[in-house]
Amino acid sequence: PVDAPLAGRHVLVTSGPTHEPIDPVRYIANRSSGAQGAAIGAALLRLGARVTFVTGPASAAPPEGATVVAVETAAEMLAAVEAALPADAAIFAAAVADWRVETAQARKIKKQAGALPGLSLAENPDILARVAGMAVGRPGLVVGFAAETDDVIAHATAKRARKGCDWIVANDVSPETGIMGGTENAVTLITEDGAETWPRMAKRAVAERLADRLAAALAAKDGT
Ligand code: C5P
Repeated sequence: PVDAPLAGRHVLVTSGPTHEPIDPVRYIANRSSGAQGAAIGAALLRLGARVTFVTGPASAAPPEGATVVAVETAAEMLAAVEAALPADAAIFAAAVADWRVETAQARKIKKQAGALPGLSLAENPDILARVAGMAVGRPGLVVGFAAETDDVIAHATAKRARKGCDWIVANDVSPETGIMGGTENAVTLITEDGAETWPRMAKRAVAERLADRLAAALAAKDGT
């Protein structure tokens, strides 16, 4: 149907930051409001999709009507993503922390004059790359995000190849753009056909355009 082109489709969305504990009161995180991910989830729901929304601790409310899985760390996010599959498409909008503290302390680390605690870091799993590389059960369309501050298209194109995903939504998050934490976004969509720069618009409008493109791509794959 024209009004529900994603009816019968399951789409997985990751959103928000992850928090990697240092001790019970401190953590490592990326900056992310979760606003763009929530808008994408809502847009997919409006097109009739069933949406599993795996979110880290974000300030934006999750989209109403999605199956929401709240997680804290990257390891938890990976487990939730794997548990939510299979999906017809997956959009990875989360700002996953690249590193976790190897051994989080069970008790609060005490501040000691003149002595700094040493943090030993371990690499987090790359959830997008894992799912994009699945030999069996890979979603039909895997979409990643690339937050860049310079050479946006070149870096995002390289990221698409490195991660093995189908599309990359690249955005310029230089502080002067005001995009981080704001209501608007300026993105370039990188596909197998190249780079397509969209005008700056509301995050909701970016989400709607992306959801429309996703619906069209899934329909084209099926020849429907
Ligand atoms: O490598 P980078 O973090 O810039 O890649 C961004 C893309 O990869 C986003 O789509 C993000 O959700 C995803 N990602 C992930 N797991 C990670 C790191 C990034 O899914 N550990």
